[in-house]
Amino acid sequence: MGSDPARGVSPQIMNRRSIRKYEDKLIPNKKIENILRAAMQAPSARNRQPWEFIVVTDKKVLAEIPNYHPYSSMVPSAGAAILVCGNMKLQSHRGYIVQDCSAAVQNILLESVNQELGAVWLGIYPREKRMQGMRELFELPAHIIPIALISIGFPAEQPGLNDRFDNGKISFNKWGNR
Ligand SMILES: Cc1cc2nc3c(=O)[nH]c(=O)nc-3n(C[C@H](O)[C@H](O)[C@H](O)COP(=O)(O)O)c2cc1C
Repeated sequence: MGSDPARGVSPQIMNRRSIRKYEDKLIPNKKIENILRAAMQAPSARNRQPWEFIVVTDKKVLAEIPNYHPYSSMVPSAGAAILVCGNMKLQSHRGYIVQDCSAAVQNILLESVNQELGAVWLGIYPREKRMQGMRELFELPAHIIPIALISIGFPAEQPGLNDRFDNGKISFNKWGNR
């Protein structure tokens, strides 16, 4: 028997790992739609929903990504990538747009697990060179800020559970009270 300390935590959360190897299979449109619906269900400051998404399925465009991002060698073999962008015209307060869009990114990662897909978050913002690369590749207008790229595919690796629970990260009622 033995007790599983992670029992009771959402399986999507516990099972999510960065997946960087994919099967050579197309992702059905409905799965992409489900992932985008999950993304748009994220919380956002004043409910401004300042996100925009570019879904990339064209193999030629996927193959271009590593020319603009140094740690994205998995993208050409992905079934799809999603560029999450912030629309500055919808920002409610300076700085919130990154938090709003990051919540959408996390929803994309978790819904990917639910769709039996694997995904990895590739950081764009605030790395100026990567941001400029994404602006050029996707012809983004000035008010659209690239935040993160998510590479998605049917998983061809299983990194397994990594329980990171750490009591040392938690204080009660005031800093340092364990
Ligand atoms: C802001 C951010 C940027 C990241 N950038 C990259 C990246 O450029 N390339 C990559 O392979 N993984 C990237 N990752 C994934 C992390 O390496 C990964 O989440 C971390 O090692 C923990 O592993 P796990 O996702 O399997 O739990 C990024 C994650 C975050 C949150």
